[in-house]
Amino acid sequence: MTVTEIPAPRGLPFVGNTFQIPAHAPSAYFNSLAAAHPEGIYRVTVLGQEMLLVYDPDLVAEVCDESRFYKSIDPPLSIVRDFGGDGLFTARRSEPVWGHAHRILMPAFGQRSMKAYFPQMLEIADQLVASWRRRQGEEIDVSDDMTRLTLDTISLTGFDYRFDSFDSPELHPFLQAMGRALTEAMLRSRRPPFVTRFMKRQERGYRADIATMRELVDDIIRHRRQEGRAGGRDLLGLMMEAADPKTGARLSDENIRNQVLTFLIAGHETTSGLLSFAVYNLLRNPHVLARAYAEVDRLLPGEEPPTYEAIMRLDVIPRILDETLRIWSPIPAFSVKSFVDTTLGGHPVPKGRKVVVLLPSLHRHPKAWDRPEEFDIDRWLPENRAGHHPAGYKPFGNGQRACIGRQFALTEARLALALVLRSFAISDPHAYRMRTRQTLTLKPEGFTIRVRERRPHE
Ligand code: HEM
Repeated sequence: MTVTEIPAPRGLPFVGNTFQIPAHAPSAYFNSLAAAHPEGIYRVTVLGQEMLLVYDPDLVAEVCDESRFYKSIDPPLSIVRDFGGDGLFTARRSEPVWGHAHRILMPAFGQRSMKAYFPQMLEIADQLVASWRRRQGEEIDVSDDMTRLTLDTISLTGFDYRFDSFDSPELHPFLQAMGRALTEAMLRSRRPPFVTRFMKRQERGYRADIATMRELVDDIIRHRRQEGRAGGRDLLGLMMEAADPKTGARLSDENIRNQVLTFLIAGHETTSGLLSFAVYNLLRNPHVLARAYAEVDRLLPGEEPPTYEAIMRLDVIPRILDETLRIWSPIPAFSVKSFVDTTLGGHPVPKGRKVVVLLPSLHRHPKAWDRPEEFDIDRWLPENRAGHHPAGYKPFGNGQRACIGRQFALTEARLALALVLRSFAISDPHAYRMRTRQTLTLKPEGFTIRVRERRPHE
């Protein structure tokens, strides 16, 4: 079999499939192609570059073998480097600074650190509850408020910096600049560079948005230096003070800037999507919502602030989050490349060819999941997990380049969802139907709910 035998949707001469990909919804398009190609793999050509898309779990297992494949920093990630630079998310394999920063920051993401962040996570989750209490009966935009929650949480825990997002009806200018810059990175990845060069106004806007984000990062770092306490065990303190335990290397000022911006973006965008999708799933599945209410009434009775230990005892809510990440992965894909010429499921794959793992299609693949469309949190009972396909679920990516913030996201999301459900009966007066917005990551668009104070056992 040759590489051309991998199925491919018909494209146009020279431009291939470039203009078939809808500018603002590439993920939906790639997953619809996956549904039409049961082989679990297909190829498309974008701007003259052929890439493979895989979603059969056996093929995904192959590309998750780190002795054969490594993380690819190509468009759109190579464009995100315009503002993420050599931060962890967008660092290239060839940059030793990835290892320095990874080893310096790992201790800040262990279970013990989660306990240390918990009071600050709780403070911001309480602000969300207070804000919703004031707005009972009104329309609440779920994605906007989950974004306020997650941005304020990462900035307070990571950098001791307050956005105070719940004090303002508008989203912070940082978020608007970030949303536009991420969207522009996505659009540029399928626009010929010479076209971008002609789009002067777009270019000015993009550079201005990057400058807005950098100013905020510089403000955060300046603030810390003025306080005269570079140290401290938060992310910024570690980056300013600690040395790589393996090489003794310290992070440069420029790299710290890139890491702070990376964490501000990666540390909130996705968790906000997860929480918004979780609320949607609960409203679509009232029997699961009832189980979640029963759990918070049992484990978090009364009005006392929950302890870290009580949040760790939750069982239904974490499974709601696991299943939400299966059905609606906020990061819809990640990409790798092969070190050498190789094969994938018997298909030849040349060295350096980009291979994209399509998460929504993988997470609903019938080889990995029974009744893939059903929201079933009992898949995540310990006795059922054992039967999962080893490569059927990758919402946090793979291997050493997998998400460093996984525990952080899951702790924050458990707490926020538990507090919301303890406090409110949630309803969806418009019977919202899922419409996702993609700014590289996915979120529900225009999803509003109403809340009213809830009495326990209601
Ligand atoms: C990497 C998903 C939350 C920081 C990744 C990757 C995925 C992912 C799929 C790998 C991307 C790739 O291979 O190109 C998620 C999801 C989250 C989440 C679904 C929430 C539900 C967070 C949080 C933080 C964070 C809360 C920080 C506090 C990072 C960083 C990387 C990363 C720094 C790059 C790691 C490296 O390459 O060394 N994430 N993430 N993420 N994530 Fe997350």
